Amino acid sequence: MHKVIFDTDPGVDDAMALLFLHHHPEIDLIGITSVFGNATIETTTRNALFLKREWQIDAPVAKGAGETFIPHRVTHAPPTFIHGDDGLGNIGVPEVTDVEPDPRPAHRFIVDMVRAHPGEVTLVAVGRMTNLANALKEDPEIVSLVREVVIMGGAFDTNGNVTPAAEANIHGDPEAADIVMTATWPVVVVGLDVTLKTVMTRQALADIRDAAGKRAQLLFDLSQFYIKFYEGRVQDGMVVHDSCACVYVVAPELFTTRSGPVRVVCGGIADGQTIQKPDGKGFGPSDWDGDLPSQKVCVDVDADAVLKLIHDTIVAIKED
Ligand code: BDR
Ligand code: CA
Repeated sequence: MHKVIFDTDPGVDDAMALLFLHHHPEIDLIGITSVFGNATIETTTRNALFLKREWQIDAPVAKGAGETFIPHRVTHAPPTFIHGDDGLGNIGVPEVTDVEPDPRPAHRFIVDMVRAHPGEVTLVAVGRMTNLANALKEDPEIVSLVREVVIMGGAFDTNGNVTPAAEANIHGDPEAADIVMTATWPVVVVGLDVTLKTVMTRQALADIRDAAGKRAQLLFDLSQFYIKFYEGRVQDGMVVHDSCACVYVVAPELFTTRSGPVRVVCGGIADGQTIQKPDGKGFGPSDWDGDLPSQKVCVDVDADAVLKLIHDTIVAIKED
């Protein structure tokens, strides 16, 4: 069993990832922490509470960061053209007043849960890395208490999606991401190199809806705006970025990884670019020498198997 805290900026693909975690029998979802990104922190937190209510998820929602690790840093605006003005595909998400968030800020919630379950908690982070960096700042000792950190973010042997150099979750807070990648906890990076290969077709999403009932109807509805964004970009469907990171937790054998330290470019034309120094490859003396921890970067994926696991997991629990 994997105890998971899901750090997220819902977000359409975040919503599918949340439903996957909620349904998977080997996942014990112990918390949801919100972060700004696909929308403002008020909106992503409201969306997390909305999905918790609609999908009857027990895990508490703790509100996270609404600004970058370094206050007032310049970053890109919320991508409303991808996720809609409401962050969930313009379905008209209602205000949620009957589900209270956890009273703690997300970074404090993360620290408390990690300390309560030493060695057991996997952090799955699929938004900007700000909450994780804030948690490390608050309590650096958690690096030895976390089981694994699995993040959706970055682009290594391919272009970014915000700039040619940078992927959105990293570009949105590069300093936070660099802190997370260089901390001495085990990190697995699930970036665009593999997520862009993992495209769920419209028909496959409709099949999930037909087989899984009401919960999946909501997922289907909120995904339509996002699918429209991907028209002309992928073949008839949508990229399920965040679900890939969740699938890694339960089925790492579906991914090929490369080991080596990872750094994030902070500033300039390549702001937010992720670079790995592969283990065993020789370079001249540089700032890359020294004690940087070796992390895992996903470089390939069995996309069909990932998509099948998402399907099978979500349809396994039917609710009308
Ligand atoms: C990432 O950015 C967000 O738009 C998605 O939810 C995903 O986490 C993809 O670059
Ligand atoms: Ca996300």
